[in-house]
Amino acid sequence: MPIATTTKNSPERVAAYDALGPQMRELLAEERDLIAAMANFSALLHDTFGWHWIGFYRVAGAELVLGPFQGPVACSRIGFGKGVCGSAWKEERTMVVPDVEKFPGHIACSPHSRSEIVVPIRDRDGRIAAVLDIDSAVPDDFGTVDVHALEEMCESLQPLFE
Ligand code: SME
Repeated sequence: MPIATTTKNSPERVAAYDALGPQMRELLAEERDLIAAMANFSALLHDTFGWHWIGFYRVAGAELVLGPFQGPVACSRIGFGKGVCGSAWKEERTMVVPDVEKFPGHIACSPHSRSEIVVPIRDRDGRIAAVLDIDSAVPDDFGTVDVHALEEMCESLQPLFE
């Protein structure tokens, strides 16, 4: 079971985000296809941090539908307002869940998930069009450093939406 190699808000995690920044920018500058960009986006984060599950859900009507990801099999559809992903979509804000067992309605795709962060992603019209979901096997693994770095990276996907 992969575990995060850096800890929440540590200088090592900041340094890891700093190191992957140029690679992520290059990757997104060279690829205009959303799915291809999401696939490498999740792979790069997985390579860097070793989190248990990293991936995207895309808005399709009244549901989120599974997109590119790294990690074990996950549920393929999540309703508006359901689970952490559906809540981040409904509330239009990044959600950090330090203990998934204490989040009412958490959708348990894997017994190894202990904490989670979900970042909504807007399309060019400003509507939520997808979410980035990261699950860690480490409890309370996400902090302000992750929120800022991941929100900034997710914003760079905005021009790739139709
Ligand atoms: N835990 C999520 C569901 C998706 S999986 O973690 C990949 C949720 O509650 O929305």
